[in-house]
Amino acid sequence: MSQVQKEVAKRRTFAIISHPDAGKTTITEKVLLHGQKLQKAGTVKGKKSGQHAKSDWMEMEKERGISVTTSVMQFPYRESLINLLDTPGHEDFSEDTYRTLTAVDSCLMVIDAAKGVEERTIKLMEVTRLRDTPIITFMNKLDRDIRDPLELLDEVEDILKIMCAPITWPIGQGKNFKGVYHLLRDETIFYKTGQGHRIQELDVIKGLDNPELDKRVGSYADELREQIELVKGASHEFDLELFLSGELTPVYFGTALGNFGVDHMLDGLVEWAPTPQGRAREDGEFVESSDERFSGFVFKIQANMDPKHRDRVAFLRVVSGKYEQGMKIKHVRIGKDVRIADALTFVAGDREHVEEAWPGDIIGLHNHGTIQIGDTFTWGDSFKFSGIPNFAPELFRRIRLKDPLKQKQLLKGLVQLSEEGAVQVFRPLISNDLIVGAVGVLQFDVVVHRLKSEYKVEAIYENVQVATARWVYGNDVKKFEEFKRKAEHNLALDGGDNLAYIAPTMANLSLTQERFPDVTFKHTREV
Ligand code: G4P
Repeated sequence: MSQVQKEVAKRRTFAIISHPDAGKTTITEKVLLHGQKLQKAGTVKGKKSGQHAKSDWMEMEKERGISVTTSVMQFPYRESLINLLDTPGHEDFSEDTYRTLTAVDSCLMVIDAAKGVEERTIKLMEVTRLRDTPIITFMNKLDRDIRDPLELLDEVEDILKIMCAPITWPIGQGKNFKGVYHLLRDETIFYKTGQGHRIQELDVIKGLDNPELDKRVGSYADELREQIELVKGASHEFDLELFLSGELTPVYFGTALGNFGVDHMLDGLVEWAPTPQGRAREDGEFVESSDERFSGFVFKIQANMDPKHRDRVAFLRVVSGKYEQGMKIKHVRIGKDVRIADALTFVAGDREHVEEAWPGDIIGLHNHGTIQIGDTFTWGDSFKFSGIPNFAPELFRRIRLKDPLKQKQLLKGLVQLSEEGAVQVFRPLISNDLIVGAVGVLQFDVVVHRLKSEYKVEAIYENVQVATARWVYGNDVKKFEEFKRKAEHNLALDGGDNLAYIAPTMANLSLTQERFPDVTFKHTREV
């Protein structure tokens, strides 16, 4: 086995998807505790300490500073090396969140078991479908009164259209949460309260029929036996192939706060989740992760992350080969070889210089404006990785200048920010308006701040009657021209001069789609 194959075999790169408050931050803490990156769980947290004035740039940076420490975390677990990529949540939910999902090989879906499937999770699952990413599910908050576990599985299957294979099954819930039964290991693992901040010694008994179980949990033992019978009949068995194709998810139950069950899930992750996968190129070729030659793509750019380092960092996912400090790689879009002397990674809050990185790892490149989302870096060949999409924004604002003479700078700033992926800009064909689109509200504040600090233009944003946008394509030139003529009032060019349909309402969009069946309306566009 070559060294690159060995390094690939060790690695798992994943992200957590969840609705706000389901427990992503808490799980991240416990995962790091198990990875022994934190002496004591609880250090990741910070977002809720004090109210942040969202309009204040410094405060925003502070907030960013916190989210940055958790941007990419690498830690060992058993024989493996795990890369956990953070997906921004809450208000700073943005396209970054979506794009991060293109840089991982599997996802952990966290569901609040008292609430079930929530809206943000549905959206994020749609994005994972673009690449059929394998999903592991964690039903969280078992120390509270939760919904019926079988009903939860049904809901996941119905709404998210993925088969569920329970790996563990809860015994009791809320105050009476006793632990879980592991269906594959035929073991009962007992829950102890007050163990939230340390790795617990496992308290396990073997066998569902073990009389010890009755002694320990009383009437819950027979109830469990009945339930397991039912569960085995009513749900799916774990199937590795279906998991790897994104059609089936193994399901675990536990409580992140009580630090129970997170390790069961990690065991599943290292056992089943795919090792770093190669990526398709736009020319139809494929780069295997075991290829000795270095390649990677940029999926996220973060600006002004650390008040002490006023720079932007481009996050690159290594696809193949090895990154070594000081090596030269080809920046394909600008056709130049660049020397990368100081790539970064972020381990538990510190910026650390990476000496080397392997497929599945993320490195941070200092960026002074030459790197864009979707850029490919290679060993020397000129090709581009495919599949870093732009997502149709869901929120729109009109950007207006305080000083109308600065229209040119404004446009330049917005186009650059859109190239970087901070926001999307649309210029209607029939007016001089500038409409920006985002998937998260905070993106608008970031853009106004950055326009001011980096482009010296003072802008404000205001509401605009736009519900959604779709990129439009047509094979039949004549019909497409007719569409362009008739729909002119709703057409706009995005930052890269691609034609998009701007719909004032969802009903308008579906009517237009019906009227022009030969036009393709796309929800994503590859960068
Ligand atoms: P998020 O990142 O997905 O938004 O969720 P986060 O981990 O911040 O958790 C949201 C809230 O749910 C937090 O409470 C957290 O303590 C709680 N929580 C997470 N896991 C569990 C669990 O297993 N059981 C119970 N009972 N609660 C859990 P909070 O009151 O909003 O914040 P805090 O003041 O506790 O930090």
